[in-house]
Amino acid sequence: MKDSYGRSIDYLRISLTDKCNLRCGYCMPENGINELPHDEILTSREIVRIASIMHDMGVMKVRLTGGEPLVRRGVAGFVRELSEIPKLEIAMTTNGMRLGEFVAELKEAGLSSVNISLDTLNEDTFKRLTGADGLKSVLKGIDSAVEAGLRVKLNCVPIEGINDDEITALTGYAKEIGVPIRFIELMPIGCGIRYKGIPTDKLIARLKETYGEAKPSESKVRTESGPAVYYGFKGYRGRIGFISPMTHSFCDSCNRARLTAEGFLKLCLYHPYGLDLKTPLRSGVTDEELGRLIAEAIGNKPKAHSFGLTDMGDSRKMVQIGG
Ligand code: 5AD
Ligand code: SF4
Repeated sequence: MKDSYGRSIDYLRISLTDKCNLRCGYCMPENGINELPHDEILTSREIVRIASIMHDMGVMKVRLTGGEPLVRRGVAGFVRELSEIPKLEIAMTTNGMRLGEFVAELKEAGLSSVNISLDTLNEDTFKRLTGADGLKSVLKGIDSAVEAGLRVKLNCVPIEGINDDEITALTGYAKEIGVPIRFIELMPIGCGIRYKGIPTDKLIARLKETYGEAKPSESKVRTESGPAVYYGFKGYRGRIGFISPMTHSFCDSCNRARLTAEGFLKLCLYHPYGLDLKTPLRSGVTDEELGRLIAEAIGNKPKAHSFGLTDMGDSRKMVQIGG
């Protein structure tokens, strides 16, 4: 499935819920959001139907997101249903709080990989950033995912004055447990505007001071890892990834679409454009017609974001989009 700029869309992020058990300051307003009523959220059957149609159109990988996907009931059941779609890779992005509880059944159901957010290793900072005493649960979740044999990556959003003094502690931890960590530049989406992120080049410079010379990985692991660019450092065993929407825009190779929990097919993180799929789904649309609507929407995928240049025009908060 191609958009009008010739980009192949083969990756769908599916938000299972707009609810979250954390309140990360850059993602979620302190008092939460107006959560969607239950019947406004797509059912598992509706989600699997969309995934299946989009798979026929070329989507090879889905990622379950939220809010926090694991606060929705029956996620392993979703994964099992999705895994019946042949050759569809199923991944998840989670805050890790409840991963320990569910990892065995998720793996058994067909989940292949998990990205876990880890912004800090300090319990007080965790509490200050997320509003919860949860670092231990997250670390336990990470361990159990590694033990279960899932492919694990850590995601960290470096923020001035919050966790910018922990960069090497975080890379050290990732090295110790043998998984890649990726640093994501903070985007000024929703509550993100209240903080100041750290540009990738600055991070790399800082990591060089600790680990020595840096070289981007030869293989562009793009297809596997999306927009992350990985670096090897002379004194560091493992890969460190950088996702730099602000300073090295990767829109020209964007391969993704997003489905919100309420069934809106969102074409770009930045732009409000997209298509409501819930209404046609609930008024007896055929698979063929739904496929046609989706193709038409994908055809209208915007060329690029303009973070920092113009206002977003979308009032959705990150927690309602799923990253
Ligand atoms: N900018 C960059 N990354 C963000 N995330 C949440 N909000 C933002 C933002 N404004 C990250 C989370 C999680 C992933 C889904 O997106 O930390 O790792
Ligand atoms: Fe934090 Fe993710 Fe929850 Fe947002 S959705 S508040 S980033 S854990």
